[in-house]
Amino acid sequence: MPDASAPQPLVSPSLVGPLADARGRVKRKLRLSLTDRCNLRCLYCMPEHPHWLPKNTLLRQEELLRLARLFVAELGITDIRLTGGEPLLRRDLVAIVEQLNTLRPLGLQRIALTSNGVLLARHADALKAAGLDDLNISLDVRTPERFRALTGGEVQPVLEGIAAARAAGLSVKLNSVVIRGYNETEVLPLADWALAEGLTLRYIELMPLDGRGFWQRDKVVSEDEIVAALQARHPLQRLPRSEDPASYYQTESGQRIGIISTVSRPFCAQCDRVRVTATGTLFPCLFSETGPDLRSPLREGAGDAALMALIREGIWHKEAGYIAKPGYVERPITMHVLGG
Ligand code: GTP
Ligand code: 5AD
Ligand code: SF4
Repeated sequence: MPDASAPQPLVSPSLVGPLADARGRVKRKLRLSLTDRCNLRCLYCMPEHPHWLPKNTLLRQEELLRLARLFVAELGITDIRLTGGEPLLRRDLVAIVEQLNTLRPLGLQRIALTSNGVLLARHADALKAAGLDDLNISLDVRTPERFRALTGGEVQPVLEGIAAARAAGLSVKLNSVVIRGYNETEVLPLADWALAEGLTLRYIELMPLDGRGFWQRDKVVSEDEIVAALQARHPLQRLPRSEDPASYYQTESGQRIGIISTVSRPFCAQCDRVRVTATGTLFPCLFSETGPDLRSPLREGAGDAALMALIREGIWHKEAGYIAKPGYVERPITMHVLGG
């Protein structure tokens, strides 16, 4: 007689309970891209001549909120991070944060934003007042000429944005993508500055996601190389890993520096993230080739149950990740539409 109480192997997603993939990874963090548009042109992120998506293909405020509510109230998401392109180019960004803030009684714990910082100085107070908790700001290098070469923009407004965000009481982390031949000699000076300022800095290994053929393996500066460069002045102790994408190191004065090492030490086994592109496509992984379209059913009047079934099914089939297929991703969209 078969034992009916024995656990059955799962072959399809459960229709209830936390959002999980077939490899048992439970999703807690949602990254919502608000726009593909950007006021910088980082070499590692965009095609050389981006064709901006038609405005009517981007999810509207009410569509974003409908999805966010479902993810939080029904699917167990506790953290939402707004990304871009540059999310501050959405005129309704503050309103979106205000609306997300109303989801806290349903289970939302953190509202975060990833920004290039250029327009931050004039919006930091409003974002804080709207309910934003965390802000990650990209700052690959502080030298004006090198910043210009990498991003096509000016560093001064970003530094002002960082100062304004801190003055507004937002919790700020800095992201620095390290690229051999561009800014690897600036790893130590950037850390000196961030530590002196009391800022948490995370270095990021260059990932093959730019869509212009910029990525090459020899441009990747690995976690070990970054640590070696930092140890020249800051003895570091490695901290135990959490589900955060960064491995953290502690300085002698107790400050933390992180390294996001997708290429040299992929952390796919702990991945608790799910992404929705600016046009409403669910990407289970940063390196997925595609995923289910949520915008069409949203616009065609799909009910909550149908949307949730699509999401659960899409996440269920989440691939192992970069760990299983390292290298360039051939696909029609790049980082600036996916939001990192
Ligand atoms: P918190 O951990 O909430 O602070 O956010 P975050 O690190 O996910 O956010 P952020 O947008 O600042 O991302 C920093 C870098 O980590 C970007 O280069 C992202 O592409 C990368 N990243 C974020 N999530 C993942 C992930 O699931 N997998 C990989 N490989 N990289 C990720
Ligand atoms: N490799 C690593 N990080 C990248 N980012 C954008 N493109 C890449 C890439 N190819 C980072 C940005 C930003 C975050 C959202 O993603 O620097 O901090
Ligand atoms: Fe813009 Fe951010 Fe991409 Fe740079 S990384 S081009 S700032 S979206």
